[in-house]
Amino acid sequence: MKQPSSSARTWLITGAGRGLGRAFAHAALEQGDRVVGTVRRPGAMAELLAEYPNSAREILLDVRDAAAVATVVDLAAQAFGGLDIVVNNAGGGIVGAIEELDEQQAREHLDLNLFGAIWVSRAAIPHLRARGGGDIVQISTVGAIGSMPTFGLYNAGKWALEGFSEALAAEVAHIGIRVTIAQLGGFATDWAGSSMSFASPKPEYDVLRNSLFGTAEIPWLAADPESSSTDADPRTAAEALIAHLSGSERPLRILIGDDAREHAALAYAARRDSYGEARGFNWPS
Ligand SMILES: NC(=O)c1ccc[n+]([C@@H]2O[C@H](COP(=O)([O-])OP(=O)(O)OC[C@H]3O[C@@H](n4cnc5c(N)ncnc54)[C@H](OP(=O)(O)O)[C@@H]3O)[C@@H](O)[C@H]2O)c1
Repeated sequence: MKQPSSSARTWLITGAGRGLGRAFAHAALEQGDRVVGTVRRPGAMAELLAEYPNSAREILLDVRDAAAVATVVDLAAQAFGGLDIVVNNAGGGIVGAIEELDEQQAREHLDLNLFGAIWVSRAAIPHLRARGGGDIVQISTVGAIGSMPTFGLYNAGKWALEGFSEALAAEVAHIGIRVTIAQLGGFATDWAGSSMSFASPKPEYDVLRNSLFGTAEIPWLAADPESSSTDADPRTAAEALIAHLSGSERPLRILIGDDAREHAALAYAARRDSYGEARGFNWPS
C-alpha cells in the first residue's frame, strides 16, 4: 500500500468508478497522490478505497445537478485540505442521426457531457485559486476535431466542451490555473456499451448505419468482453495524462492514444479542404 508522499497533489476525478476515470484514479494513487473520486453508486471505488485507505475517497455525484456539484466540490476540497488537479471525465455517448434525436435525450446528453464539465470547472476555480494554481483537465475526444454521421450530438457536446475550455484557459491563466484538453482515441471501456444511449432509429438511415456499423440494428449489442478489441488499455491513457501533468510545459491540447494522431490529422485535412473548396481559401504557410 502506497502512502501519500510529502509532495502529494490532490485530484478530483468525476466518474472514477470505472473506465478511464478509474484508471486515472489508480495511476494518481499509485504515484503517491491523493484522489477524491465521484461515483453514482456507493462502493464503486471500493477496491481503490481498500488499497489506498489514506489517500482515496469517494463521493456521490450526478454531474448534471449543478447545485450538487457545488456542494460536492467543496466537500472534495475539504477531504484533504485543498484541490490541485480536477479531471472532468464523467461522460457518455449517444448514437442517432440529427433527424432521429429526441429533445429530452439530446438535452440529457448535453447536461452530462457539456454542462456537467462547466459546473465542475466553475465550482473548482475558487479552490484552485486558493491554492495559488492547479490543473483542470477536460476529457475530450478526437471526435471534437471532426465528426461522424450519427454521432453529431456527441461531437457537438465535445466541441462545445473544447470551446468553453479554451476561453476558460485564457481566463484563469493569470492565477496559475492551467487547462488541458485531452483528446483521446479509442479506449476499451463501457463507453460504447452501457454508457451509450440510442435515438429511436428511422428506417431512412438503415443504409447509412449498415455502412458505418455493419448492421442497421440499433441499439447494437454490447461488445462481448471476450472478443478482441482494437481499443487501447485505459491504463495507457492514464500514463499519458500523468506524464503530461508532470511536465513543466503543458500545452493546451494533448492527443492520447495510438490512433489519435491519425484521426486528428485526417480531421484537420478535411477541414482545410472544406475551406479551400468553398472559396479558394489559402492556408497560411
Ligand atoms: N472510451 C473511449 O474510447 C473514449 C474516447 C474519447 C473520450 N472518452 C471520454 O472519456 C470519458 C470517460 O468515459 P469511459 O470511456 O471511461 O466510459 P465508461 O467506462 O462508460 O465510464 C463513464 C463514466 O462516467 C460516469 N457518469 C455517467 N453519467 C454520469 C453522471 N450523470 N454523473 C456522474 N458521472 C456519470 C459513469 O459513472 P457510472 O459508473 O455511475 O455510470 C462512469 O464512471 C467520457 O467523457 C468519454 O466521452 C472515451
